[in-house]
Formats: sequence, C-alpha cells, structure tokens
Amino acid sequence: MLKNNPKEKVPFVLITVTCNSSGGQPVSIENIREVSKLARHYGIPLYIDAARFAENAYFIKTREPGYENKPIREIVKEMFSFADGMTMSSKKDAIVNMGGFIGFRHKDIYEKASMYNIIYEGFLTYGGMSGRDMNALAVGLYEGTEYEYLETRIKQVEYLGKKCMEYDIPIMQPTGGHAIFVDAKKFLPQIPKEEYIAQTLAVELFIEGGVRAVEIGTLLADRDPVTRENRYPELELMRMAIPRRVYTNNHMDFIAACLHNVWERRNKITKGFRIVSEAPIMRHFTVKLERV
Ligand SMILES: Cc1ncc(COP(=O)(O)O)c(C=O)c1O
Repeated sequence: MLKNNPKEKVPFVLITVTCNSSGGQPVSIENIREVSKLARHYGIPLYIDAARFAENAYFIKTREPGYENKPIREIVKEMFSFADGMTMSSKKDAIVNMGGFIGFRHKDIYEKASMYNIIYEGFLTYGGMSGRDMNALAVGLYEGTEYEYLETRIKQVEYLGKKCMEYDIPIMQPTGGHAIFVDAKKFLPQIPKEEYIAQTLAVELFIEGGVRAVEIGTLLADRDPVTRENRYPELELMRMAIPRRVYTNNHMDFIAACLHNVWERRNKITKGFRIVSEAPIMRHFTVKLERV
C-alpha cells in the first residue's frame, strides 16, 4: 500500500527553462546535464518547470555549440532526458488559454501524486480540464515546437529589445525568450530601494500608455520568512512579457514609445510606493500600494 503523508517534505531541485526571474534567459543542455549529475549524486530528484521549454530549446539550437542542426523536438527530448519529472503551465509554450499538466518518470511518485490530483483537480485523465482544452493543448505542443513559429516569436521580443536600446533604455542583454526586462535601478536611480523601484517604473509605464508590465524585484522577492524583513534583490527588473500570437510589431513600437516617454521624464519621478496591505505569502499577486 502507498504511504502518503502530505506533510512529508521531500527535497528536489527545480530548473526553470527559460528562467523568468533571470531575464527569460535559457538553460543550456550542458547546464541541465551537470545539475542532473549533481542531483543524482545527492539522491535528489530533478524537476523541470517547463512553461517555456520550447523557447529554451530554440536558444539551445541557436546558441549552444553542436545543436545548430538538431530539430527542436529532438533537443526538447534531450532536455527532459535528464529530469525525473516536470510541470507545465500550458498557457506559455503550449499556446493555450488555460491548463497544464505534470509528468513523472517514476511510477511510484506518479501514483502518489495521482491521489492528490483526484482530490484537488479532477480525475487523472482530465485533471479539471475540458476535453476541448486538452485537444487544444495537444495541438499547441506541436505548433509551439515548430522552429518557424519560435523564430517569429523570439524575433518579436528581440525587435522590442532593439527599439528600447535605440532609445538608450537600460535592458537586460541579450534579450531572452518571452519578455524584455528593464533595469529599473538604472532607469530610476533616485528612487530608494525601500520604495519599490521596479514597481514604480511599472506604474509609470501603465500611466503613460496603459502598458501593463510586472515587477521582478523586492515585492516578488518577498520577506525573509524568519525576520519578516523585506528581501532586497540585487536587481530590480521590470518585465514586459509579450503574449503569443496577439501582438504585431506595431504594438512593439507603441510599447517602446511609451517607455521612451517615461525615460524622457524620468528625472521628475521622485517618489516610489509604500505597502498598504499584503498577503502573508506570494504578496506580489495582490499587494496594495500607495504613492509615498
Ligand atoms: C516559469 C513559470 N512557471 C509556472 C508559472 C505558473 O503558471 P500558472 O499560472 O499556469 O500556474 C508561470 C506563470 O507565469 C511561469 O512563468
């Protein structure tokens, strides 16, 4: 019989491909292989957060020596060959409106997880999703791993990046897979870190042109679980993520122009924000702020 203790804490290593909090940058096969060796050495399972697995494979093909002639799907198989399991938010590289799935290499873990799936999501074969959504997901996994599609998508991100650079806006380089990350500390050096620098920039961009970006900085880093003090990361980034197949390059021009307008008036932005209320965990989703 399966022993199932929901309070049991099982250590694992998670690799996020591509990595959201470090500029949408890819993880090389070499890196995944080396991490998997280390994890295996310590008997710790390796999982992949695969939300943007196809973009990661595109970067491996275009940047990692030895992979230039390999098809995307072959690279994807190699990436996952090192992992014990994976999670997938299908809204990203499976190009669907909703849904996701998890995968395990080992049957015993699959069986343990299955029980919770039934309790929290729905029966194993649909996990809370409708048949239509699952069909769309299956199609999306094929379409999302087509080289031409990936190239168009990633080139659009690059296009926005180039526009920003033309305006001298400080962004993370090289540009990553799904978003442009603006270096908010360089953009607004006058705002103290206690006033949420990247969040301040995101608010200004929204006021300027209704462009919605997200803070990858102190709000996201949250508080130290013991001291409850804010954790101040070295980088304060503003992420402008580009949804798939929705926008044209004209939209990219508009976003860059709005950001440029904020850049032109940056010296007049002298006050950041303070927290009015926040949730005890994952505060960045729902935090309420007011201007200092
Ligand atoms: C890398 C990554 N993994 C997981 C998630 C969570 O996805 P979901 O909202 O489908 O739970 C996100 C959401 O943005 C993400 O960027």
